Amino acid sequence: MKYEKEIARRRTFAIISHPDAGKTTLTEKLLLFGGAIQVAGAVKSNKIKKHATSDFMEIERQRGISVATSVMCFEYQGKLINLLDTPGHKDFAEDTYRTLTAVDSVILVIDSVNGVEEQTRRLMEVCRMRDTPVIVIVNKMDRDGKYPFDLIDEIEKELKINLHPLSWPINMGKEFKGVYNLYDKTLQLYSPNQRSLEDNNIDIPNLQDPTLDQLVGQRDANQLREDVELLDGVYGAMDKADYRAGLVAPVFFGSAVNNFGVKEMLDTFVQIAPEPLGRDTDKRHVAPEEEKFSGFVFKIHANLDPRHRDRIAFLRVVSGRFQRSTYYKHTRLGKDVRFSNPYSFMAREKEIIDDAYPGDVVGLFDTGQFKIGDTLTQGEELQFTGIPTFSPELFKELVNKDPMKTKQLEKGINQLTDEGVAQLFTQHGGNRKIIGCVGELQFEVIQYRLLQEYGAACAFMPLSFYKACWITGDKKKLEDFVRFKQQNVMTDKDGNLVYLAQSEWFLNTERQNNPDIEFHTTSEFKTQNKQ
Ligand code: G4P
Repeated sequence: MKYEKEIARRRTFAIISHPDAGKTTLTEKLLLFGGAIQVAGAVKSNKIKKHATSDFMEIERQRGISVATSVMCFEYQGKLINLLDTPGHKDFAEDTYRTLTAVDSVILVIDSVNGVEEQTRRLMEVCRMRDTPVIVIVNKMDRDGKYPFDLIDEIEKELKINLHPLSWPINMGKEFKGVYNLYDKTLQLYSPNQRSLEDNNIDIPNLQDPTLDQLVGQRDANQLREDVELLDGVYGAMDKADYRAGLVAPVFFGSAVNNFGVKEMLDTFVQIAPEPLGRDTDKRHVAPEEEKFSGFVFKIHANLDPRHRDRIAFLRVVSGRFQRSTYYKHTRLGKDVRFSNPYSFMAREKEIIDDAYPGDVVGLFDTGQFKIGDTLTQGEELQFTGIPTFSPELFKELVNKDPMKTKQLEKGINQLTDEGVAQLFTQHGGNRKIIGCVGELQFEVIQYRLLQEYGAACAFMPLSFYKACWITGDKKKLEDFVRFKQQNVMTDKDGNLVYLAQSEWFLNTERQNNPDIEFHTTSEFKTQNKQ
């Protein structure tokens, strides 16, 4: 195991949350602890505000800025931490899902006032699909939020995970006094706008100690005693193995904007978060310790600036050592490629790197040869699997408005869908093209980019489909189904058959009428089939 030390040093994770729960604020505090930034406010430009929904150019501009902060690296307590950013805007949720395939664990931020929100649910679904270890931080304890026991209950039920509180709040809102660390039995007293990065922990191994009453007042001290007794009875000690298996999620309480509770969480994170993990391929499992390099592309970012038509492909290193200016096999294209200027990302700056190790993310200059999910290896024929595609929520037919530019339109829509901007379905045995997206915004982006970058004018005709399901099963039965349901059967870009259902009722009916056909709502079935 040549690169054992490098692997053991790395931790690659993402912070996920519903917009406004505090992801950006928390990211910034973590970077401050890691010394990657010196001033607060440095990460703010990364944020796509909710109100910007009607102004997609502004969103794209901000997305452009966010390339620099897409991957943030910092060192903390001897560990090299790769923090992968995920877009907050729901119309770009697919980007987030794909980024989650490139991390080994996540930190989930929950707003103590709003509790579990829509995006939280979907993101956790993706985490559960691959048993990603999760640490939860309940944020905004300086506001009058939900009662902590109710919140724990809500998170467990709604997100279908078992929680294990490692800290417990003392009151909340204006009365918020701090948290008691259940693990090392220390008290952290809250003060707004905590600037110090030092530990201010007060040892209280025995909660009956009258010092507690002096520090937080008798009423809150008694409440804490009662709460902790209850917690001890329910939870006991936390098993790291359960966390790493994605079975139990430790919970912390804090206030990111006040820099409170963040350090405790980070300290725990570096102790328990998993090292870079291996990944499955169509042939076998690849372990990080393997000597030969391999990695996969999980995100492609185009530059909207017409003066710089380059794209950056984000590659997660899975095994071995990636080296600059070295030939690697692009397994889908079956050709050798090399990169003379691979980037690594250091907070706001991109810098050219010579090598990278498992867990690292490398930015590769791309002239259009990459597609999401592409694999690079040191010669071996394999393809990483498990980059999910979900059913889109909106479907529109692509209408060519300028027959003279048909070729440009074809090329443009192929490249944009390779980037993962949207999904392209082509009528089975025909030429109708249907674009599937998560949000309206993506249609605007596509229309704009096709015109600007490819000179192709298009329009979109709304279609009333409800879901796209990949269909598999008995060959003969599938052929019959395709014949009967011609209007609703498409192929995706990889040639897989897809059934577009008009409504839930139609989908359920087809499921009942065709027991030999499986209807999959994510493309994960490809992975399952091959294993
Ligand atoms: P996001 O990336 O998850 O979308 O959330 P972000 O960090 O931008 O936080 C959303 C809002 O919540 C911000 O206020 C931020 O200051 C606030 N916030 C974050 N953590 C806490 C906390 O612990 N307590 C309280 N009370 N507020 C918190 P904003 O007004 O939308 O933005 P800004 O003007 O402060 O930048």
